[in-house]
Amino acid sequence: MRVLDLGAGNSGLCAAMYHDGYKFMEAVDLSPIICAQMKESWAASYPSMVYQQGDAMALQTTFEPKSFNCIIDKGTIDAILCGYDSSPNAELAMDGIYKTLMNRGIFICVSYGTEDMRMEYLEKPEFDWKISVYRVAKKTINTSEIVIAENEDDQNFHWVYVCKKQVPDEVEEPEQAEEEEN
Ligand SMILES: C[S@@+](CC[C@H](N)C(=O)[O-])C[C@H]1O[C@@H](n2cnc3c(N)ncnc32)[C@H](O)[C@@H]1O
Repeated sequence: MRVLDLGAGNSGLCAAMYHDGYKFMEAVDLSPIICAQMKESWAASYPSMVYQQGDAMALQTTFEPKSFNCIIDKGTIDAILCGYDSSPNAELAMDGIYKTLMNRGIFICVSYGTEDMRMEYLEKPEFDWKISVYRVAKKTINTSEIVIAENEDDQNFHWVYVCKKQVPDEVEEPEQAEEEEN
């Protein structure tokens, strides 16, 4: 199973997943400094995992189409949406994510963004996937206690969008069929 952590930063997510049995995690980040640090750290502790520099807005330049069973984004689309040309750049990233996922693959987006802020990027006519949304209570910074369920304020939650690509393996996508005809 190929799993990509997109915009991994220096997060411990891949290491945690390694210990859960995902021994071949891959990660990309835009920052050359983070990449150098993480490569060094992984070479010592997780030699089977691959960390490389890559741009979430141009995933096709780093990976072949349909490379991954699962792509995880924890805060990277959020970061892109905080930057210059935010909407077109988030759309570029989403397009690359969709194309880089295998048929039946899963994109997991962990975000600060509520549904009214994120669904416009996830729900596109060109994306054939089923989206499930989960709300996860944040741990408070001061107390590390989970916020009480009665406190329904959106700022007390993270949002997890699980997008399952519906295209079955045996169906050729139009682009692929065209290429084969030429
Ligand atoms: C909010 S941090 C999240 C880091 C990590 N995923 C985590 O959970 O701690 C956003 C990360 O996205 C990276 N990033 C921002 N724009 C990017 C892009 N266009 N391509 C790849 N990584 C990007 C940043 O370098 C940073 O490490």
